[in-house]
Amino acid sequence: MSTPHRVKVALPEANSRGYEVLVGSGLFGSLASILSRFCPAHRYAVVTDDHVAELYAVRLSRMLHGAGYRTDVFAFTAGEEQKTRETWTLVTDAMMEAGCGRDTALIAFGGGVPGDLGGFVAATYMRGLPFVQVPTSLLAMIDASVGGKTGVDTPAGKNLVGAFHQPNCVIIDPELLSTLPEEHLRAGLAEAVKHGAIADAEYLAWIEQEADTLLAGDAQALSRLIVRSVEIKAEIVARDEKEVGPRKLLNFGHTIAHAIEALSGYSLLHGEAVAVGMVEEARIGERSGVTAPGTSARLRTILSRLGLPTSLPIDFSADDVIGRTRTDKKARNGRVEYALIQDVGTPVSREGRWGHPVADETVAEVLAGANGNR
Ligand SMILES: NC(=O)c1ccc[n+]([C@@H]2O[C@H](COP(=O)([O-])OP(=O)(O)OC[C@H]3O[C@@H](n4cnc5c(N)ncnc54)[C@H](O)[C@@H]3O)[C@@H](O)[C@H]2O)c1
Ligand SMILES: [Zn+2]
Repeated sequence: MSTPHRVKVALPEANSRGYEVLVGSGLFGSLASILSRFCPAHRYAVVTDDHVAELYAVRLSRMLHGAGYRTDVFAFTAGEEQKTRETWTLVTDAMMEAGCGRDTALIAFGGGVPGDLGGFVAATYMRGLPFVQVPTSLLAMIDASVGGKTGVDTPAGKNLVGAFHQPNCVIIDPELLSTLPEEHLRAGLAEAVKHGAIADAEYLAWIEQEADTLLAGDAQALSRLIVRSVEIKAEIVARDEKEVGPRKLLNFGHTIAHAIEALSGYSLLHGEAVAVGMVEEARIGERSGVTAPGTSARLRTILSRLGLPTSLPIDFSADDVIGRTRTDKKARNGRVEYALIQDVGTPVSREGRWGHPVADETVAEVLAGANGNR
């Protein structure tokens, strides 16, 4: 195992403790000793999905049992459609039945779905258990596992029920990506493009240049990507843990993304929806006069190189999408707020506010005729 990179998430609020994100090849094999240091407990509840469980649960349980820890694995059916209150009920009931008490720590193990759901179980079970994130998808490694947002979807929209609950640490082993299906690798890269778009133009250029290497699953390139994305996310979360200010930037592309993800019945992957969302929100910014002309075209070029979709699915109408954006958490006083960028790498704040209310008519103008290839 190489020496891990350590990225500190320094939390601003007085009663919040900071934590570390460890990134290193082979770290998964040292999980027991990392847990004993960062999240000691008598027993561990592993919350995961059935794909990840099939690949890694035996190894994980053996390691923890071998180190003398009682370990139970709670695996639910994989997929965004399972990130619900019903699955939360199933998992918490199973944990009660297994006798998990307050001496238990939780391991959220998997992609962003087990990460968000497991984190929400940790936030609520017996009024809160300590937990660690052990992400296994690229999207979860670079985004979902860092920052303490946990929750589930409801029929009205994505992530509408949840809690802020910070992990004790995040343990990232890029070797686990060797089994990740390619479409999910691409979907994860969409969030990396978002990090470049909101914070670091040079990083975005590097992603574009290394697109083929990254898509080929090159371990070194992926590790570098994970570390830079985690640094950007950690820096933003440190400025604004509870998303009252600059953290809203991380929602770039997400107002449209959440709407089309839900409209697709979750057949569109989160990262794919974010790719489309960033292009459309850059166009909304251009139309509103806050985003430099050409920004959406630049993003479209990079996202296409990564094999990601860049336009609305053909059967989605602008009205349906706009209707869905109103139920997103980002709707305020009847106007939907968007996190916009001035140019790639440079976000826009309006008198210190990071959400930009945009009139539905502007969004409708942009989305009209936005389906299919432009
Ligand atoms: N909390 C946050 O701040 C935050 C940020 C971004 C995204 N999210 C959430 O993350 C979710 C999307 O995450 P995701 O794309 O990881 O979804 P996911 O958890 O459904 O994982 C995608 C698929 O990859 C499989 N998988 C995961 N790791 C694997 C591995 N190593 N090998 C083989 N298969 C593997 C999973 O079983 C699943 O089928 C969304 O619900 C989104 O809202 C949360
Ligand atoms: Zn996202």
